[in-house]
Amino acid sequence: MSRHPKTALITGASSGIGAALARKLAAEGINVLLAARREERLLAIKTEIEAAGGRAEAFPVNLSDPNQRLRLFEQVRDLPVDLLVNNAGFGFYGYYTEMTWETIHEMLAVNVEATLHLTRLFLPLMQARRCGQIIIMSSIVGSIPSQGTAMYSASKAFLDAFTTAVYRETRGSGVEISLVRPGAVKTDFFTTAAQQENGRCNPVEGSGVSVDYLVRCLWRLIQHPRRVMHIPAWVGLAPLFELTTGWLQDLIGPVHLKNNR
Ligand SMILES: NC(=O)c1ccc[n+]([C@@H]2O[C@H](COP(=O)([O-])OP(=O)(O)OC[C@H]3O[C@@H](n4cnc5c(N)ncnc54)[C@H](OP(=O)(O)O)[C@@H]3O)[C@@H](O)[C@H]2O)c1
Repeated sequence: MSRHPKTALITGASSGIGAALARKLAAEGINVLLAARREERLLAIKTEIEAAGGRAEAFPVNLSDPNQRLRLFEQVRDLPVDLLVNNAGFGFYGYYTEMTWETIHEMLAVNVEATLHLTRLFLPLMQARRCGQIIIMSSIVGSIPSQGTAMYSASKAFLDAFTTAVYRETRGSGVEISLVRPGAVKTDFFTTAAQQENGRCNPVEGSGVSVDYLVRCLWRLIQHPRRVMHIPAWVGLAPLFELTTGWLQDLIGPVHLKNNR
């Protein structure tokens, strides 16, 4: 039987995957709660959704701040939220030693801590109702710790382990937990990564699947939840790739990055 949530909280809804997913869910009749820092963008998406006959609310929030995460939870907890999409995140491409401590800490706070915190807050409420779904946006680079993505790969590998374990803890509780592991997607993600202090351009930029394709896959996942979805499906072979050709990456070393300034 396919599922159809009533109210979805989407983090990172001001652009890219989160914004496109919000438009899709609203078009499917789901009330969408849009969370991110850039209020003007959230309001523009809300206006667009409402003009198309959907329902949306904007919640400007800096998810790196635990107090703001708690405030967001208090604002929306009783609606109630039956779909939480932990999507907010950002990357950095460059040597680990080029990252400032501030960027390292912010990446941990947004990519990892915010996901842990919101999941910790919403999951018990969903379990009490025996209904709900939590989607966690990881990345295939969690399985391919390549030169230039040390922190980003590590942050996503954390989410992979966390989600898999919590999925196993919550089986049969009525709540679905799903991990999404996309390869490259054409969004502002790479521009934002390059804009971080000392950030470089990622050679992967411009390649990958369209955000519309990704959202179609996410909609399938919402209707028919499962533990993990790779997008596109073949990137699910990445762990095998690392296992068999990881030694080649060791050999190549940092040359790739040097050519990419
Ligand atoms: N694009 C790809 O190739 C790709 C591949 C695999 C996985 N992913 C993952 O997909 C997710 C969405 O990325 P995207 O491709 O859609 O990139 P994007 O267009 O740059 O979107 C990132 C979203 O995260 C939000 N965000 C960042 N820092 C935040 C903070 N401190 N507080 C609240 N919101 C924050 C941004 O909103 P504000 O700036 O307005 O706060 C924005 O809405 C990320 O988790 C990313 O790691 C992307």
